[in-house]
Amino acid sequence: MRNNIIHPGADKLTYEIRGIVADAKHLESLGVDMTWENIGDPIAKGVVLPDWIKEIVKDTVSEDASYGYSPTAGIDDARHTIAQMRRTEGCTLSPDDILFFNGLGDAIATIYSYLNHNSKIIGPNPAYSTHSSAEAAHSDSKHVTYTLDPHKNWLPDIDDLRNKIKYNPAISGILIINPDNPTGMVYPKAILEQIVSIAREYDLFIISDEVYANVSFGSEPFVPIYDLVGGDVPVCVMRGLSKEIPWPGARCGWIEFHNRHADPIFAEYVTSLFNAKMLQVCATTLPQKVIPKLFTDARYPDHLQTRANLYKSRAEEAYKAFRKIDGITAPKPEGALYFSVVFDDNLLTNTQSLPLEGTIKDFIETKVRGVSPDKRFVYYLMATTGICVVPLSGFNSDLFGFRMTLLEPDDAKFTGLLKTITDFTEQYLKS
Ligand SMILES: Cc1ncc(COP(=O)(O)O)c(C=O)c1O
Repeated sequence: MRNNIIHPGADKLTYEIRGIVADAKHLESLGVDMTWENIGDPIAKGVVLPDWIKEIVKDTVSEDASYGYSPTAGIDDARHTIAQMRRTEGCTLSPDDILFFNGLGDAIATIYSYLNHNSKIIGPNPAYSTHSSAEAAHSDSKHVTYTLDPHKNWLPDIDDLRNKIKYNPAISGILIINPDNPTGMVYPKAILEQIVSIAREYDLFIISDEVYANVSFGSEPFVPIYDLVGGDVPVCVMRGLSKEIPWPGARCGWIEFHNRHADPIFAEYVTSLFNAKMLQVCATTLPQKVIPKLFTDARYPDHLQTRANLYKSRAEEAYKAFRKIDGITAPKPEGALYFSVVFDDNLLTNTQSLPLEGTIKDFIETKVRGVSPDKRFVYYLMATTGICVVPLSGFNSDLFGFRMTLLEPDDAKFTGLLKTITDFTEQYLKS
């Protein structure tokens, strides 16, 4: 190349959830039967949508208008439905302050790309890697993070958050993921109030990724951030269809800009996001046309509750299964679709292994050279048991552990999965 065409932040674009798939596929080609516990796609794990939801989608497909472009911000009906839902929750939101994207993946890429290069967003550690990678790539530096503490049920360390903000004037916003991926933690109201008050004190905006808002099942009720920000703290609330219907293949998510006009700089930033979407024309039309019919259907709340109940029982079972292993911390998830396990310091080493044979052994031995000890654990788990999980270090985390999902729809299979992973863990730690 005549010039270096590589973006300075390109090396920060990592996504271990999918990154591990190529190696898992290679193991499959060597004869290992793979169980995919790496990705939060309920449909891939066998969830079947109820017929009434499929009927709504089918009816919508037969409307000619669903084949056209939609307005840049999104279909009017969809935005009015969402604004009306917020009104019934006691919150004021104009339909004009909602912007649709092709999934939150698109929304996340856009919000960090159009942020001033000198502005940083502090986010949780561990964190869903799309946020941490997009933030690191935009600022071409490591994501500044606040700690989620596994020894305190994954609650955020508010002193750490406050100190990092105080001593890092480039921080312009706080990211929360609530309910959280990968930890399953639901931010308690009192903690959210403290975060809002820090944002207010330091004149920051908040990004609240609430894609799992309707997948909350713990003792701590989920509180949307817009309930707490009053009329002054600007917020980007992210919601979508991927996890709650669930319809990840629709690629449909949106941002609600609460208190958009409370700060002129925030207002201009939001306008730049609408303009950026205009250059792309609009988000996909079909799922937006489904939203008004689905969200106002009397069966929808029960549908959400039934799904949440299933994940609650999965979370309890996973928690009980891992509690008995010495040296690990694995708080019970209260929301989202995941269960994360953390190993005590120094419990994992760079020499542990279990016996493998032939080409599988050769492949794994090349793959684990120089990797973090939790990635080593994950590769041996994959080769020995055929279960593909994600190392916690892949979530921009300083902790060593792994994340599995709560998604297996078959009760017996889920129980078997837990037994296989816990048996493997005990043997591996002794090796
Ligand atoms: C916290 C979080 N935000 C956003 C996304 C992406 O959602 P979408 O399917 O809307 O792109 C995910 C996907 O797993 C997620 O876990």
